Amino acid sequence: MNDTAVIIMAAGKGKRMKSNLPKVLHNLAGKPILNYVLDTVDQLEAKRKLLIVGYKSDKIRELVGDKIEYVEQKEQLGTAHAVLQTKKLLSDFKGDVLILSGDVPFLTVKTIKKLLKHHQTNNFCCTLASTILKNPKGYGRIIRDKKGEIKGIIEEVDLSADRKTITEINSGIYCFNKDKLFRALEKITPDNKQGEYYLTDTVEILLKEGLTVGNIIVKNYSEILGINSRLDLADTSRKVYQKTLQDLMLQGVTIIDPSSTFIEQGVKIGQDTIIYPFTIIEKDTKIEESCLVGPYSHLIDANIGKGVRVWASIIESSTVKEGANIGPYAHLRPETVVEKGAKIGNFVELKKTVMGEGSKASHLTYLGDATIGKKVNIGAGTITCNYDGEKKHKTIIKNGVFIGSNNSLVAPVKLGKDSYTGAGSTITRDVPAGNLAIARSRQTNISGWRKKKKEDKS
Ligand code: UD1
Ligand code: CA
Repeated sequence: MNDTAVIIMAAGKGKRMKSNLPKVLHNLAGKPILNYVLDTVDQLEAKRKLLIVGYKSDKIRELVGDKIEYVEQKEQLGTAHAVLQTKKLLSDFKGDVLILSGDVPFLTVKTIKKLLKHHQTNNFCCTLASTILKNPKGYGRIIRDKKGEIKGIIEEVDLSADRKTITEINSGIYCFNKDKLFRALEKITPDNKQGEYYLTDTVEILLKEGLTVGNIIVKNYSEILGINSRLDLADTSRKVYQKTLQDLMLQGVTIIDPSSTFIEQGVKIGQDTIIYPFTIIEKDTKIEESCLVGPYSHLIDANIGKGVRVWASIIESSTVKEGANIGPYAHLRPETVVEKGAKIGNFVELKKTVMGEGSKASHLTYLGDATIGKKVNIGAGTITCNYDGEKKHKTIIKNGVFIGSNNSLVAPVKLGKDSYTGAGSTITRDVPAGNLAIARSRQTNISGWRKKKKEDKS
């Protein structure tokens, strides 16, 4: 592949997406469509790698960075016009040009290598990848003569009715001899229904020059599915999720209902973990063995230890260690660590907080910027008042502390080892180890008050 230049076409807006976002940046089962193509290209040892950008190219450059050479196609006049923009950059390059589409995400390295080999061993001037589709709607069709030789490619919109039944389609992936490609591109005119410069017209032009065009037929048609609309996006997303779930199940993970479970590629889950319905697991989440996750849970970049229970909860960029219990309806916000065997219960929110081993916050609590020791009990309705309108402050709760119900812990504040707080306290000062802090006004009972009220009315 060292004599090959790879060109990825990604300048189009993607009109059929009806979106302000460039089509190739739409999220496909966890990552932008274009990233699938780039991940594949990363594995190729090509001499040059070029990305054609145009519509909102700054957004694409921001995502991809400087690992590729960019070619700007200012006006998107069609795929032939797109490739022509690389002519200057490739003026010194000698060899073959592999053209890929940024909206065809599942093409494998194996198929690319097969295409190149077929191209090079037969010395074709152009070799394309085609496939047979039961429903070829929307794709360019491969036109063959009676002998089965390729004669050209006609786009769906330009097809005559009798040719609509052709099921062999153009994948949009080609290998060209560089000089012949650019010579053919110069000859293309936009005389078709869309008024675009079609890259596919090169085939007919080269054949007319007496050159040979070859092809490989990709058996696994899903490799060359192109994404043009949001319907295609949903269909292909489902395929990616299905594959990930199948792989996990084969590795020993129980997925109770694959149709309502969405797990992104790259998530790691240990054996005998059970994932209940309506659960979404994203990014670099790792779950160890024998956990119960869901129903109704959303984990993003979470690190979950062995035997953890997560029930109807959201966990973002946080760690939950062995045997801990989360939920229902808990929210662990970024940089939270729940240590071994701790319990985070109903309607509890944690942010940038360490919850010590065996500690419990069972109900209706907010703990932010807090460091909580071992075997601490946080009473229902406890709030760390960590924000003064300008800065965030820390709450430190040492081992064995018991916080009564409905406490406000006004940070910065520190509660010493084994200290206690009375229910309904507003703790504004540090509590020394072993002390009981009560910070609420004393109750007054007024005797005979009710009787007196009745008498006043009559
Ligand atoms: C193209 C092929 C069609 C094939 C299909 C396979 C042409 C004329 N047609 O059609 O035969 O069956 O792919 O998926 O090539 N692009 C640019 N600049 C442009 C236009 C497009 O960079 O001016 C990029 C797009 O961003 C996209 C790719 O080229 O990544 C393909 O363009 P698209 O408009 O999706 O082509 P299709 O209609 O799908
Ligand atoms: Ca397309």
